[in-house]
Amino acid sequence: MKFVTKERTNKSGPSTPTPEEDENVDIHNSYIAPDIEADDVPFNNAASSTNTPPRSPRLHASSSKRSRSRKSEDIRSKSGKSEDIRSRSGKVEEHKGADINQVGIYITWSEVWVTVPTKRGGRRPILDGLTGYVQPGECLAIMGPSGCGKSLLLDTLAGRLRTNTAQTGDILINGRRQTLAFGTSAYVTQDETLMSTLTVMEAVYYSAQLQLPDSMSRAEKRERAEMTIRDMGLQDAMNTRIGGWSVKGLSGGQKRRVSICIEILTNPKLLFLDEPTSGLDSAASYHVMNRIIKLAQLDKRTVIASIHQPSGEVFELFDNLCLLSSGRQIYFGPTARASEFFASSGFPCPAMRNPSDHFLRTINKDFDVDIKHGHGGSVVTAKKAIDILVKTYLSSETRRQAVSKVYEICQKHQETIVERDRQAGFITQCQVLTRRSFINMFRDLGYYWLRFVIYLALCVSIGSVFHDIGHTYGSIQDRGSVLTFIAGFLTFMAVGGFPSFVEDMKIFGRERLNGHYGVAAFVVGSTISSAPYLCFISVIPGAIAYFLVGLQRDFEHFVYFCLLLFACMLLVESLMMMVASIVPDFLMGIITGSGIQGVMMLNGGYFRLPRDIPKPFWKYPVYYISFHKYGFQGFYKNEFLGLTFPNVKVGGPPTISGEEILRDIWQVEMEYSKWVNLVILLGMVVLYRLVFFAIIKASEKLKPKIAAYLSSSRTKADDFSTAPSVELGCNVRRVRAFSLFDCRCYTVDLAFAD
Ligand SMILES: Nc1ncnc2c1ncn2[C@@H]1O[C@H](COP(=O)(O)OP(=O)(O)O)[C@@H](O)[C@H]1O
Ligand SMILES: [Mg+2]
Repeated sequence: MKFVTKERTNKSGPSTPTPEEDENVDIHNSYIAPDIEADDVPFNNAASSTNTPPRSPRLHASSSKRSRSRKSEDIRSKSGKSEDIRSRSGKVEEHKGADINQVGIYITWSEVWVTVPTKRGGRRPILDGLTGYVQPGECLAIMGPSGCGKSLLLDTLAGRLRTNTAQTGDILINGRRQTLAFGTSAYVTQDETLMSTLTVMEAVYYSAQLQLPDSMSRAEKRERAEMTIRDMGLQDAMNTRIGGWSVKGLSGGQKRRVSICIEILTNPKLLFLDEPTSGLDSAASYHVMNRIIKLAQLDKRTVIASIHQPSGEVFELFDNLCLLSSGRQIYFGPTARASEFFASSGFPCPAMRNPSDHFLRTINKDFDVDIKHGHGGSVVTAKKAIDILVKTYLSSETRRQAVSKVYEICQKHQETIVERDRQAGFITQCQVLTRRSFINMFRDLGYYWLRFVIYLALCVSIGSVFHDIGHTYGSIQDRGSVLTFIAGFLTFMAVGGFPSFVEDMKIFGRERLNGHYGVAAFVVGSTISSAPYLCFISVIPGAIAYFLVGLQRDFEHFVYFCLLLFACMLLVESLMMMVASIVPDFLMGIITGSGIQGVMMLNGGYFRLPRDIPKPFWKYPVYYISFHKYGFQGFYKNEFLGLTFPNVKVGGPPTISGEEILRDIWQVEMEYSKWVNLVILLGMVVLYRLVFFAIIKASEKLKPKIAAYLSSSRTKADDFSTAPSVELGCNVRRVRAFSLFDCRCYTVDLAFAD
């Protein structure tokens, strides 16, 4: 590869597109460091494929064919290794190189761009080519006005971007592309998703039991939980319920600290904190941050925190500062030198003002305020001030040092693989999740108690409307109606628990992303914990309806009635859990769940008799997959078999048997017994729970793949292409490159000899 042309394109130096250029932003900047041989390049970027230009930290101008092929081998072997790591679903068995506990986690990111779609069909950058690093034992503060991209940068570094975003640039962990999800890092997000019914101690202790390994005793886990709660200054609120929309519990700041407690329990090697001090007073902010940073220094942990309006004391705790404005890098470097940088850019911090306040005030363009610039006292708009700062930073020594540091880290720590911490075993996880979920269901009035009261009222109503149904010919129809109502409508009411399912799913989503436990343990825990409640609400209200109506009065028939009702409720609940995993919005979920049940009920064989249901679609398959069919028929068989009714038909026999009614009136499938109906329903429960498990697993596996695919297809469109050049007799690829020497951007044509 050799340089053919070298043409300066960006007058202002760095390639920072203005928002006006948003439709055709160049998101592929590279670095040129002519002093580094191509063979020395740390090719740890698995994404440097044909559809993206080279994005290794440095690129030599005259590399040979031999070195190119060697590079591609390197890429293959190293990216292959990363694939291996990922394919073991986050569990890393192989560990080469230095011990991660001694080395810690280094994160570097270079030229990271994140874009989102615009209404006009183009793409808008929301992070503009950011470069930076964090080292073990250090804490990085991401600061900037609201909406500048702090949370987005955290999400990007943690690998949690949404699918509508496209990201380019290198994010390397210890110099390699590695997946962070599931247990290698902890992330305290801005929105607290905590179980509102638990006390602080319960929430943290349950989490400790889930996250800490089985080798630790319960007493040790309890001690760890208590110690962490004290560290976060929550000892006085230990026995206070967290609370939510219905019950007032902890304040916002206290909830935040509970979230932090849960995530720092295991002393994660890498900790992301999104505005950990929001809602805290300055003293609490200081103590919380001080504790986190001390822990990081002590155990060589890596901490990245976005921070909003820190006090002077808190600000000084951070080692490095990443200052953003509208996704653009204003400053990345030592916190202590930020004031100096602002002063050298013409925005000195006035005496007696907190530097962090000064930075935020200078770079906030949401309000039309003029900023003093230079010593002459001239004023500039905030937008202009930001442009000046961005420009100054791009050509500053601080940036050059940051870039060199990134390169140095990538060079030094290429072999270390990020390991997952050991945690509680599957059985312990199932036990703890079942217990926790059982307590939550008991304390959350909306989960089952409210439904229980409504069921009682409904069953008393059923009992009085159909009271002492008797054995007349007319009671045949009444029996059919009451049983259909019980099987259809009582079970339908499980949609009432949907908001609680959605809350559970949110908590599961957060804990799962942080790797607290497995999907199977969650499915087992939620199934076992709900069974006793469903049993309770099928037996008590069921008995009221059963005996008031006067259905068959012997124990076996009553037991079957309760079991079938229980199976139907379990089934509807499983269906609603499935819906909650696909449609996490509670209103949309209720509508979807009700719609599905409505269609199933309609085709269950009561409202339209089985032989009359239109065959395409409604009978095959809807009638056969509708659980109402098996529920209705089970109830009918249980009630009608063994009974005889007077026949009112002229010329017919004097009585009509239950079996004849089932066959001729209700058109029930008589080839199998009522117990088979029960078994089919229980089988469907298992199937639904397995589908629920599969949906969660599939979305976990597919989401990153879809995001990666969308990201690559989006970047392809913006890519600089490789084209054959007749003049030179070779392929020429045009790339944008950033030179470390003069901090300027170039468009470079690279010629390939083959
Ligand atoms: N997935 C997304 N799609 C579209 N816009 C997004 C997305 N994520 C973030 N943004 C936008 O990026 C900007 C930065 O958001 P954020 O990182 O949440 O800000 P903050 O600095 O307050 O944490 C906001 O304007 C937000 O609307
Ligand atoms: Mg935010």
